[in-house]
Amino acid sequence: MSLFATCPRGLEKFLFNEIRTLDGQKIKVHDGGVSFNGNQDSMYSLNLTSRYATRVLKRLSYGQFKSENDLYQAAMKVKWDDIFPVNKTIKVSTTSIKTSLKSIDFVTLKIKDAICDVFNQKYKQRPNVDVRDPDIKVHLFLEKNNYIIYIDSSGKPLYQREYRQKTIEAPLKENLAAGIITLSEWDFKVPLLDPMCGSGTLPIEAAMMALNIYPGMNRMFGFHHWYDFDKEVFHKIKVQLKEKQIEKELHIYASDIDRQAFNAASTNIDQMGLKPYIRINNRRFETSNAPNDHGVIVCNPPYGVRLDESEKLLESYQLWGSVLKKEFSGWRAYFISNDMAFPRGLRLSASKKTPLYNGALDCRLFEFVMVAGSNRKLKQEN
Ligand SMILES: C[S@@+](CC[C@H](N)C(=O)[O-])C[C@H]1O[C@@H](n2cnc3c(N)ncnc32)[C@H](O)[C@@H]1O
Repeated sequence: MSLFATCPRGLEKFLFNEIRTLDGQKIKVHDGGVSFNGNQDSMYSLNLTSRYATRVLKRLSYGQFKSENDLYQAAMKVKWDDIFPVNKTIKVSTTSIKTSLKSIDFVTLKIKDAICDVFNQKYKQRPNVDVRDPDIKVHLFLEKNNYIIYIDSSGKPLYQREYRQKTIEAPLKENLAAGIITLSEWDFKVPLLDPMCGSGTLPIEAAMMALNIYPGMNRMFGFHHWYDFDKEVFHKIKVQLKEKQIEKELHIYASDIDRQAFNAASTNIDQMGLKPYIRINNRRFETSNAPNDHGVIVCNPPYGVRLDESEKLLESYQLWGSVLKKEFSGWRAYFISNDMAFPRGLRLSASKKTPLYNGALDCRLFEFVMVAGSNRKLKQEN
């Protein structure tokens, strides 16, 4: 079967590697995703194990079109009634790039009509639409005159790992957090610190990675609603994955200035059984001390949206820069921000800037290598 796994832009190469280890064939990297040929096992496995994918789509039909009616006819040819029962709820969404179609809503409606008509012709009954929490998601992808109809094997997006019981404003998506940990090249041995942990996404993803805890183990997937769902194969894969989980000592530290964020992170860490691995504190980054003479900082600081917020942040940046220089020499620090002047604000120069998208926000993951002596440089500058 032909599959397409989507992911946040900037993480495609990591997703490529995951698919390669699952024996995917004809693997090809695209902007925001990876296409490959696989079987049912690899589709189940990728949904269960991927740290970076957002969804895994199975291709049902593809070709060229000139009009909305061509797309309706193409969707009518899919044997929907062989894929899922009529009592399942459905939702169709469309992504369109450079098409001449007048209305995306109209074409989405035509695909939904085709699915319902296929069922109606056979059973005089049609599936209901549920736009909020459908059992079956269908994606129509259009580019110029080409179309692809996919069924979503993931259902809810894969970044929903079901461990975030409590959240805060602006949490990171879990797959982007996993990408940041991988980009930091943390080796699971040295200390890892998130000094503005919010709901705890970065430290939780880091611990899961180090302990081989797979992200999809506690959730349902879209394919659970398909006729061909193979419970035994799925269960077998899960058992094998569970056996890969390991025990090891980790030095992960998390802290946040905000009491509510601290409580949310504590609940989420507990929910995942990661309390023995992550030490959490309710403190300002400005008062932090390094727990070791080397380690890795990963951080998703607040972004200033309004002008007054940005001005206030600028003052904070300078303080954070001083803490990094004074307390964290010998460490590497990774900050994700949409503010391209972030390094200047810290008064540090970034040794690497990796483009990443946090939702629609064009961001960079800034790397700062804190070498001994940068504090002296700060004093000279002042
Ligand atoms: C964008 S949120 C982090 C979201 C987090 N990555 C998550 O996934 O939930 C930024 C966090 O930084 C915290 N924060 C802001 N200034 C801080 C400071 N000076 N010291 C420590 N935490 C701070 C806020 O309380 C907030 O929880």
